[in-house]
Amino acid sequence: MRFMKFIREFLKNPKQVGAVAESSGFLARKMAQQMGGATNVVEFGPGTGSVTTEILRHLPKNGKLTCFEINSNFCERLKSIKDSRLKVVNDDVQNCGKYVEQFDCILSSLPLATFGKSDREKIIALSSRSKTYIQFQYNPFLKPKLKQYFHDVKMKFVPLNIPPAFVYISKNPKNAELANAISK
Ligand SMILES: C[S@@+](CC[C@H](N)C(=O)[O-])C[C@H]1O[C@@H](n2cnc3c(N)ncnc32)[C@H](O)[C@@H]1O
Repeated sequence: MRFMKFIREFLKNPKQVGAVAESSGFLARKMAQQMGGATNVVEFGPGTGSVTTEILRHLPKNGKLTCFEINSNFCERLKSIKDSRLKVVNDDVQNCGKYVEQFDCILSSLPLATFGKSDREKIIALSSRSKTYIQFQYNPFLKPKLKQYFHDVKMKFVPLNIPPAFVYISKNPKNAELANAISK
């Protein structure tokens, strides 16, 4: 059962998993609705696949989705999703450049608040190589940091999730050179 799998993995590594329950359908849909027709999509931290499934619903038929998940038990579950557009990579998102050169849109559920400052900075810099970066968090404080990397940053509140969450939609990256230098 997905719920049990999630909670077991959380108890093993709370900081890395970062949530006691998978995202609700409301949160997953709110994120996927922001993709704006992107065809070359990357997901960071798909866990048991709650957001993944919604991304696939919104992805055009000729689109592709590459997911990066560090937890091998979650990867096993993700590999049971049968969709030829989906590729699951069992690796740290910081290595994503080894697998994908270009992407139009990143959707991320990474628990940035539990990461160290340097990892958080690297992941946001790396994400600004994409035209659109959609990230959810449980706190409303990420906007100033995102504004350092993107011209346009919007935030939407999703109350129907445990706990309630904020979806940040960042577009129009500012400085590709800075992003490359920090995320290396
Ligand atoms: C808050 S959970 C979200 C899971 C799922 N997307 C959802 O919304 O229910 C965060 C996920 O990020 C994964 N994760 C954490 N750090 C990671 C990293 N450096 N690289 C890849 N995945 C990571 C965790 O294993 C976990 O599955």
